[in-house]
Amino acid sequence: MKLIILGAPGSGKGTQAEKISQKLGIPAISTGAIIRETVAEGTPAGKAAQKYIESGNLLPDDVIIAMIEERLAQPDCSNGYILDGFPRTLPQAEAAEKMGIEVDKVLSMEVADSAIVERLSGRRECEACHTPYHVLFNAPAKENVCDKCAGRLICRKDDEPETIQKRLNVYHTQTEPLKEFYEKKGLLVTARGHEEISDTTKEVFSVLGI
Ligand code: AP5
Repeated sequence: MKLIILGAPGSGKGTQAEKISQKLGIPAISTGAIIRETVAEGTPAGKAAQKYIESGNLLPDDVIIAMIEERLAQPDCSNGYILDGFPRTLPQAEAAEKMGIEVDKVLSMEVADSAIVERLSGRRECEACHTPYHVLFNAPAKENVCDKCAGRLICRKDDEPETIQKRLNVYHTQTEPLKEFYEKKGLLVTARGHEEISDTTKEVFSVLGI
C-alpha cells in the first residue's frame, strides 16, 4: 500500500498514520517530523526551517521535494509507505508524479475547524519517536512519558492559538485544492474525525479496505 494522507493541522493525520503503519507494517513518513528533526540539529538549514514552521507557513516546495526523494530511497519504503503531510501544494503533487510516486489511495481526514484548536492545544508529542498524544483524548499511561519508547512528551511551538489559525488558513488555500486534484484521478477517499480515536480508525480502515 502506498498512501497519501491529506488533512488540516490537527485532523489526526499523524495519529491515523501510526495506526495504519502498525496494521500494514509499512513506514509512516511525516514531513513535519523530518523538518522538526532538522530544526533540532541546529544547522543553518534547520534554523531556516524553524522560521517557516513556527510561523505556520509552508517550507519552499523544492526543499520538501528533495527531502521526500531522499526518504523514499531508503530500503524500508520498498514495500509501501504512508505519506503524512506530503504533498501539500499543487506543485508538490505534480513533482510527486514526476518522481514516479504512484499511490493506491489518497485519504482525506475531515474535521471541522472548530474542533482543531481543542485538539492541538491538548496535544503532546514524544520528543524521541514523535508519537502524538492528547492530554484528554489519548493520554499516555504515565504522565508526560511516551508509552512506546519512554521518551519525554513535549508541546509543539506551532500549537499556539495564533499559529494554529495561520496553519488552518494555509491548509484551506494551498492544500485543500489537492482533494479535487486526486478526486479527478479516482484516488480520493474520506474519513471523518470522530470524537473517539478508535472510531476514526475503524472508519479509516474501512474506507481503505484494510
Ligand atoms: P505537520 O507536522 O505535518 O503538521 P500539520 O499538518 O499541521 O498536522 P499536525 O501534525 O499538527 O496534526 P495531525 O493532522 O498529524 O494530527 P495529530 O494526529 O497529531 O507540519 C508542521 C509544519 O511543517 C507545517 O506547518 C509546515 O510549516 C511544515 N511542512 C510539513 N510538511 C510540509 C510540506 N509538504 N510542504 C511545506 N511545508 C511542510 O492529532 C492532533 C491531536 O488531536 C493529537 O493530540 C491527537 O491525540 C488528537 N486526536 C487525533 N485524532 C483524534 C480524534 N479522533 N479525537 C480526538 N482527538 C484526536
